[in-house]
Amino acid sequence: MERLLIRGGAPLYGSIRISGAKNAALPVMAATLLADGPMTVANIPHLHDVTTTMELLGRMGVELTVHEGMEVEVNTATIEGFRAPYELVKTMRASILVLGPLLARFGQAEVSLPGGCAIGSRPVNIHVDGLRAMGAEIEVTDGYIKGRADRLRGAHIRMDVSTVTGTENLMMAAALAEGTSVLENAAREPEVADLAECINAMGGRISGIGTSTLTIEGVERLRGIRHQVLPDRIETGTYLVAAAMTGGDVLLKDTAPEPVATVIDKLRESGAEVTAGADWIRLVMHDRPRAVDVETAPYPGFPTDMQAQFCALNAISTGAGEVTETVFENRFMHCLEMQRMGADIFVEGATARIRGVERLTAAPVIATDLRASASLVLAGLVAEGETRVDRIYHIDRGYECIEEKLAQLGADIQRVPD
Ligand code: EPU
Repeated sequence: MERLLIRGGAPLYGSIRISGAKNAALPVMAATLLADGPMTVANIPHLHDVTTTMELLGRMGVELTVHEGMEVEVNTATIEGFRAPYELVKTMRASILVLGPLLARFGQAEVSLPGGCAIGSRPVNIHVDGLRAMGAEIEVTDGYIKGRADRLRGAHIRMDVSTVTGTENLMMAAALAEGTSVLENAAREPEVADLAECINAMGGRISGIGTSTLTIEGVERLRGIRHQVLPDRIETGTYLVAAAMTGGDVLLKDTAPEPVATVIDKLRESGAEVTAGADWIRLVMHDRPRAVDVETAPYPGFPTDMQAQFCALNAISTGAGEVTETVFENRFMHCLEMQRMGADIFVEGATARIRGVERLTAAPVIATDLRASASLVLAGLVAEGETRVDRIYHIDRGYECIEEKLAQLGADIQRVPD
């Protein structure tokens, strides 16, 4: 197992390119199962979760060709299996995204139940109930969701909770169903909108994109197209926080300001100067940041996937800030690790109360989930001494070449074998 060694203290300067969004690439790769011809997905980030998705499709017999610059061509003509096995689903919950497309196009699917995870219980009841409402017969046995369907029927579904992959799964299924579906309380995340645009370009009929009510007229077939994945807004936000924490001056290219509007607002409140154009964002921080209060919410609210990074920011800021998590029930593991680096954090229920300290001190820390590990890297960038971050396979699931990008900005960081 590899680890990261970070020697803190260097302000970040320079520019880097933002990669394609993990959480947009994964659903679009699942959507290739809906196409009756080869499909190309471009701007795919080079990440473990993408490799896992490719393995998942490959095991079903789908033909994948990786072209230069991480463009992947997917051809489902050779498919011969419809199963997402436990060993893959346990490493990547997003595997559940194949359930809707498999049922809609091939009338059968077997997907392992994802089970618990480090950030909460994360059930998939809304995915299953929605597909049942569309006429799928689903049994949950032996740890698997086993589904069969003749052609799915459009349905009116009101989701109790705003769920990103749940909305994506049901939207993909509805795209090939007979008749019209309405999804109420749909997630409005940019990645959901990107998937809807992709399906429409394939010949689908989805309206209400970007709103909480999606109307989907099912079509008989969808064709393969070339789709370019969105920039990663969470990677963008993470590097903006890194620049702010280190008192740096960083330009992020190939990204977009609008999807990170709430993050930029909070960084400005914290004292950062942020300027942006259509495809770039620059952040300059002159002083020590000021602590800010943050409360996570579904999009367009403040993203839960940026919560840990703001805990790191507050930990070295002036003043005190409260970070409240409303999306997941148990997403504060990073706080315990940051305490080991000298952070003054008190977690009570869904809120972390953080009083900034002038300096964190390096310690060996353990990454418990993807965004938690990013926050520990951020803490390491400003800590005195050498921070060792273990279990970085979590980081590799979602951040492309993190140590190379940070090193390009002047950070003292290296990846070493165990
Ligand atoms: N929920 C239910 N029932 C369901 C589905 C969800 O109760 O059937 C609840 C969850 O327990 C949670 C809430 O709904 O409390 C929201 O979860 P959601 O379903 O939206 O999460 P997800 O679709 O599993 C995606 C991202 C996550 C991100 C969340 C929230 C992908 C592949 N994953 O997960 O990304 O945190 O939305 O924005 O899109 C990450 O990238 O690090 C990551 C965890």
